[in-house]
Amino acid sequence: MIGKPVSRVDGPLKVTGRATYAYEHIPDEPTLYGVIVTATIGCGRIREIDVSEAQRSSGVRTIITHENAPAQCSIEEAHLFDYWSGRPTLSGPNVTHYGQAVAVVVADTLVEAQAAANLVRVEYDIQPGKFDLAAAEDQAYAPKQLVLGTPTDSAVGDFDAGYASAPIQVDVHYRTPYCFSMPMEPNACIAVPRGDDVVLFVSTQIVDAARDSLAATLKLDPQRVEIVSPFVGGGFGSKLSIHSEAILAAMAALRLKQPVKIALTRRQIFHAVGVRPTSIQRLRLGAGSDGRLVAIAHEATMHTNPREEFVEASAVPTRSFYAAPNRLTRHRLVPLNMLRGEDVRAPGEAPGLLALESAMDETACALGMDPIEFRILNEPQVDPEQGVPFSDRRVVECLREGARRFNWQRRQARPASIRDGRWLVGFGVAAAIRVHPQMPATARVRIEPDGSCVVLSDMTDIGTGTYTILAQVAADALGMSIDRVRVELGRSDLPTSMGSGGSWGASSSSVAVYNACASLREKLKPAAGNESASLSGLVKRNFPDGLEADGESTAMWDDPNYAAYSVHTFGAHFAEVGVDSDTGEVRLRRMLGVFAPGRILNPKTARSQMIGGMTFGVGMALLEEAIVDPRSGAFVNGDLAGYLVPVHADIPAIDAIFLDGIDDKANPLGAKGLGELGICGAPAAIGNAVFNATGIRVRDFPITLEKLLPGLPQQA
Ligand code: MOS
Repeated sequence: MIGKPVSRVDGPLKVTGRATYAYEHIPDEPTLYGVIVTATIGCGRIREIDVSEAQRSSGVRTIITHENAPAQCSIEEAHLFDYWSGRPTLSGPNVTHYGQAVAVVVADTLVEAQAAANLVRVEYDIQPGKFDLAAAEDQAYAPKQLVLGTPTDSAVGDFDAGYASAPIQVDVHYRTPYCFSMPMEPNACIAVPRGDDVVLFVSTQIVDAARDSLAATLKLDPQRVEIVSPFVGGGFGSKLSIHSEAILAAMAALRLKQPVKIALTRRQIFHAVGVRPTSIQRLRLGAGSDGRLVAIAHEATMHTNPREEFVEASAVPTRSFYAAPNRLTRHRLVPLNMLRGEDVRAPGEAPGLLALESAMDETACALGMDPIEFRILNEPQVDPEQGVPFSDRRVVECLREGARRFNWQRRQARPASIRDGRWLVGFGVAAAIRVHPQMPATARVRIEPDGSCVVLSDMTDIGTGTYTILAQVAADALGMSIDRVRVELGRSDLPTSMGSGGSWGASSSSVAVYNACASLREKLKPAAGNESASLSGLVKRNFPDGLEADGESTAMWDDPNYAAYSVHTFGAHFAEVGVDSDTGEVRLRRMLGVFAPGRILNPKTARSQMIGGMTFGVGMALLEEAIVDPRSGAFVNGDLAGYLVPVHADIPAIDAIFLDGIDDKANPLGAKGLGELGICGAPAAIGNAVFNATGIRVRDFPITLEKLLPGLPQQA
C-alpha cells in the first residue's frame, strides 16, 4: 500500500459533514460563548478597565480581565520548542502589541457576548511604540540561538577577503513583509469542565503541546487536561501553539463550571496569532569569471516582540546549499512593539530561500550564465558548512528533469524578449532545500480478535492526509487490506507524538506505526512456528482478546546518521509569468515543481501538499502582505478582503512531480518531510520570471504592479 495514490480514508466523513471540528462539538451541558476584547493600542498600559455596563448586559455570566484573572505562569524558555510553554493571557495591565486580549466576556449566547464585549470600556496610558523595522535596524541584536539550538551565526574561510577578490560581486537587500498562516478554520476551542479537570476540544497541530501549554499557563497538573482534536481545518504553523481562544475558554469554563466556546474572529487572528516576521535580508555573492562562487554571505534581520522573542532561521538553508570556500551567515533581531513572530509555512526557508534564490538569479545574470547551469556548477560535494556527505541530495536531477519537462530551452536570456500580445512573458527557476527533522513519536497498533487493525496515536491530521498514510503503513506492514485498518488520532489519551509541524509529522509518525507493526509480528512469531499463517488468523487462534504493540520513531538527535550526514529534501521550481505591458499586472501562466523528498508514502496526498506549497509561493511572490499602521502597529488590511491570498483564478495549471527515491539514512521507511518543501524557492522562481519578462528586479516583496509600472519597457 505504501506508495499507492490512496484517496483519503477520512474523505467521506469530510464531504458529508460528519467530521467534527473543534467548534462543532456539542457538550452534554448547555454551552456558553466567550468573546475576546482586544487592545486598541500598540504599546502602553491599561489605566482603567470598566466592565460595569457590560456586566449588566443581558445574558452575561462573567467577565475576566487582568484584575480578576487567575494566577498564571510567567513566560519561560525552558522547552525545546515553545509550543509546550505556558501562554499567560490577561496576566497584567501591560500591552505589548495591538490586538492583545484585555478581557473576555462570557454569556449565554454569542450575540449577547458580542453585545456586552462592545460595552467594556478600557482607558490606556499610551507609550510611544516602535513599529518600523528599517527605522529601528540600528537596535538589532544577535539572539542566543536559533530553533533546536542551531547557532545564530556561521563563518567558514574568510568571507571579506574572498568577496573582495571576486571579479563578479552581487550585493543586494531583499525585504519581506509580515505574512500569516491563515488556515480556513479559525483558532477555536470548547472547554468542558469535568470536576476539577478540563477537556479542550481545540484545533491544534500538536495535542501534547496543547495539553502542556494549557496546564503550564493555568498551573494545572497536565494529567487534569484532556485534549480532543480529531480534525483540524488547516494549521500552517498557526496551531502549533494554543492561543487566547483555548486559554480563555478553559479559564472561563473552570470558573463557571460550565462549557465555554471561543473562536477567534478573522480580524483577531491577524492580531493575536503569530505572524511571519518582516525581514530585511542582505545577500552578498562573489563569483569568479568562470562562474564559481568564491564567497557567499546571507544576513537576515527581522522583527521580534520584546517580551516574546522569536527568530526565523532564514539564513540556515544557505549553510547547506551551494559550494563556496568563504561563507558567512547571520541572524539579527530588532525589537518592535508588534505581535510576536511564530512559525508560518516553512519558517526560515520560505523567506530565506526567496532571498538566496533571487540573488542566485541576479548573480547568474551578472555572469551571463544560464541560472540552471550556474547552480549546477556550484553544486557541493559535501555539506559546505557541516563538512559531512548529504544523505540523498538530488538538486541537479530536479533541475535537469524540470528543465526538460518545462521546455526551459524556450527561455530567452535577454529580459523582455518574449511578447504574447500585450503580455511580456518570462521564465524563472529556483532550487529548493529543506532540512528534514526526524522527531520522536510513539504509536500503538492493535490487531482485534476479528482480525481488523487499529492504529492509535495523538498525532493530528491537519488536512494533510495523516489518517490515510498511517492506514497505508499499517496495512503494508501487517499484510492487510486497508479497509481492515482503522486509525484513531488527535486525543491526549493516545500515545504521544510530535503532531504535525515542520514537515516532521508524516515521517515521524509513520516510522512509529511501522515499528509497532514490526513488534506485533515479533510477538506473533512463536505462535506461527515454522508455518506460514496470516497475522489475523494467528491472533484469532492465540490471542482471543486481540494483541497490541507500541512503536516509536528515533529522534534525529538520538540517531547517529543525523551527525554523519546532512539530511535534507530538495526540489526545483519553474515558473512562466505574463506581465501586462500596460498595467504591470502579473499573471502566473504555468508552474512546475520537481521534488526529491525520499520515499513517497502516498503520491496523491503528497502532490496536494506540494501544489499547496507552490500556491503559497505565488502568494508570497505577488500578493501576501500585512500592512502596518505606523501609529499603533495594527494591520490595516487585517482580514481576508484586504490581505490577498491566491484564489483559483490566480492559479493556472500547475504541476508537481516527484523523483523516485528512498533516503535510507533518514529512517527505516526512507520517507522524509515534504509539506513545507513546496513553498521553499517557489516565490523566487516567480520573481525571477518577472525579471526575465520585464528586466525589472523587484527586491521588496510582494511584487505588485505599482513597483513594476515605472520601469516597464515602452511598447514597440
Ligand atoms: Mo509548520 S509553519 O511548522 O506548521
